[in-house]
Formats: sequence, structure tokens, C-alpha cells
Amino acid sequence: MHSQTVNPFLRQRFYNRASQANWRAFAFHREQITARLEAIGSSCAPSEASLCILGAGNCNDLDLARLTLSFHRLHLVDIDAEAMQSGVTLQFHTADPSAAVRRNRIAFSPCDLTGALEICHEIAQFPSPQTFARLRAALSHLPAFSYLSQQFTTVASTCLLSQLLDIFQRALGEDSPEFQPLTELIRLQHLRTLAALTAPGGVALLFTDFVSSDSYPELLKAPPHTLPAIMESVLRRQRCFPGTNPSELCRLLNSPPLVSFWEEPPTLSPPWIWNLGPRSYLVAAITCRRSRNDLRSQFAP
Ligand SMILES: C[S@@+](CC[C@H](N)C(=O)[O-])C[C@H]1O[C@@H](n2cnc3c(N)ncnc32)[C@H](O)[C@@H]1O
Repeated sequence: MHSQTVNPFLRQRFYNRASQANWRAFAFHREQITARLEAIGSSCAPSEASLCILGAGNCNDLDLARLTLSFHRLHLVDIDAEAMQSGVTLQFHTADPSAAVRRNRIAFSPCDLTGALEICHEIAQFPSPQTFARLRAALSHLPAFSYLSQQFTTVASTCLLSQLLDIFQRALGEDSPEFQPLTELIRLQHLRTLAALTAPGGVALLFTDFVSSDSYPELLKAPPHTLPAIMESVLRRQRCFPGTNPSELCRLLNSPPLVSFWEEPPTLSPPWIWNLGPRSYLVAAITCRRSRNDLRSQFAP
């Protein structure tokens, strides 16, 4: 049995409460994410632009008031409903009546995007070949796509993949022979979810944190112009969190079964720093545009 037996939902809740008051510290990271989403939103007719955020949590990395100007409809998805509710309430805490109208365009879906957290918790306590088989079967589905049953002109995953991988890796332990194959299944499920929720002609954005100052202390004091070189060194020395290497994620997006969903190969942005209080993370954005004439638009990849 691996040492992690804390229910993964309670752990995520704990993390979210611990970072709830970080609105100010997140300012630069929030600007990076919001500005990229705004730029995409304003390229559509305002009445048609819709945005789905996977891993919205406290929404400290999203300027929702600005985003409701660029997107007619916003849909927040996270396992932690309370974090999303209080994040939205805090950002729309104003007497301005137009803010109330815009606030009403934001919907929430509390949803386990993996559909497998309960099984993961079971595995941490009582691993067996049968539970691993159930876990693999669960990861072949796309619960968010079934749950939302709609598509969006923009879909963004906000530093969620590293969390998903961390939850499962803690439950298994890095020494487990299941570690690598399950990392690949979780990653594939997440990329398929992004693709499936993106409408034809729409844009999928994967914001991914891939190394922290715990393993790369240089990040705490690195001037912005040195970050691309740091990123290159992190990738070359294979120091990313397991499964989060952005170049590898681009390669996966550009290979079957996902490649046929995109109009052109994914692009990788320069990195930036996400200051999370005691720790800093290096983050990059991967952008993919879904083909306009995709006949599978109603079906998951
Ligand atoms: C790094 S946080 C994202 C930061 C967040 N947008 C903010 O501003 O605070 C990752 C989020 O993923 C959520 N999460 C973790 N596992 C999940 C799952 N299986 N399904 C849905 N959301 C999950 C957590 O609740 C958390 O809010």
C-alpha cells in the first residue's frame, strides 16, 4: 500500500483553501492567461464566443470581469464547487448592475474530469489487478464531455494537468510498474477532453506548469528574459514534473489520435513565472485550433 490515503478530493479542497487568498500574488500569471483568452475571444463575434475553463478552482488566475466582455457564455468546471462559487462571488462583489448581468452568464459544473478519483483512492489503500483494470477502463471515457454535452469556441485547461498527474502518482508511488502507463492514460484522457469540448474552428489552450522552484530554485530570482533558456535547460535535463514536458505534450497533440483534430500543429508560448507564495512554477501555453470542417464535431476523439 502506498502512503497516500488522504481522499484526493479532500486534498484538492485543502490546496484550494490554502491558495484562496492569493489574488494579488497571482496578478502576473492571471494577466498571461486572461490576455491570451481575451485575444481569442475577441476574434469571434461576441454573441457567439463561449469559453470553458477546466480546473477553474478559486479563479485567481482568471479576470472574469474582463472575460465576460469577450465571451458571451462562460462555463467553469472543477471538482471543487465551493472554490468556484466563492471565486466568482469575490470577483463580482460590486454594486454595478451591469456586473450582475455579466455574472449571470457564468455557469458552473462540479465534475471529476477523470471520473476515476474514487478508484484512485481505492488503489492507494487496496491495490489489486481488478482495481487497476477498473481505473484503466474509467480513464478511457471523457466524463466532462458527457457531463457538459456541448462544445465551446474556446476551451482552456488552467494548470490542471499537473494536478491530475500528481493525484494519481501519489496514489501509486513512482516505483509502481503502473506509474508510467497510467501517466500516459491520464494525459491522453485530458488532451482528448480538451479536443472533444472544442467546437470546429475553435481554440483549445493548455496552460501547463511543468517545474517548480523546489527542484529548480533559480526560478525564484530569474529575470524574465532568462526564462526561455531556463525552460530549454529544464527540458534538456528532463527535470519536468512527470508527464508535463510541454514539448512532449505538443508531440502527443500532433500524433494520432489527436492530430486529425487540429487545423495546424500546436504552438508553444514562451514561458512565464507563476508565483504561488512560497513556491514559483514555470508555465507555458500550448494553443491548438480545431479544424473547421471536422465532421466528427459531435463525437469525442
Ligand atoms: C492548480 S489549480 C488551478 C488554479 C485555479 N484556476 C486557481 O486560480 O486557483 C487545479 C484545479 O484543479 C482542480 N482539480 C483537481 N483534480 C480535478 C479533477 N479530477 N476534476 C476536476 N477538477 C480537478 C482542483 O480542484 C483545482 O481547483
